Amino acid sequence: MNGTAEEPAMYDENRVRTLAAEGVRLGGSLLEVLHMVQNDLGYLDERVVPIIADMLNLSKAEVQGVISFYRDYREKPPAATVVKLCRAEACQAVGAERLVAYASKRLGIAIGESSADGQIGLEQVFCLGNCALGPSGMIGDRLIGRLDEAKLDSHLDPLLRSGG
Ligand code: FES
Repeated sequence: MNGTAEEPAMYDENRVRTLAAEGVRLGGSLLEVLHMVQNDLGYLDERVVPIIADMLNLSKAEVQGVISFYRDYREKPPAATVVKLCRAEACQAVGAERLVAYASKRLGIAIGESSADGQIGLEQVFCLGNCALGPSGMIGDRLIGRLDEAKLDSHLDPLLRSGG
């Protein structure tokens, strides 16, 4: 992977063409090709749409429609630090929804949004493999269990002070 959630790759048309061509060569579906490109760039820049449409012999509207429909695809660069909160069943049973509501209020953004300065993003995930220690979440690359409001604040406060 060329870029990471913290550091998206620069847009590079040749790289997008190479990735898409590799996806097509491997027999990948549109969804798989989009994942390959997003995994590398960090998001799906609108400039990738005509390239992928052309390579898969689809219309631009079809490609854009899929990108817009699936929440897994990001159309904007990810925030510098992404807070991911698990909303799957085991975490829900121990207060995940309350925690999501609290995080959303504390950060002033909804799930799927980033702060205006692009420093902090809030996302939902469905199981982090840490069910026994729920509610679970990730802040950046760090997996954190037994989250509650106070513990979440202890991780968010330094980020909010430093601007991300
Ligand atoms: S259900 Fe949340 S970590 Fe598995």
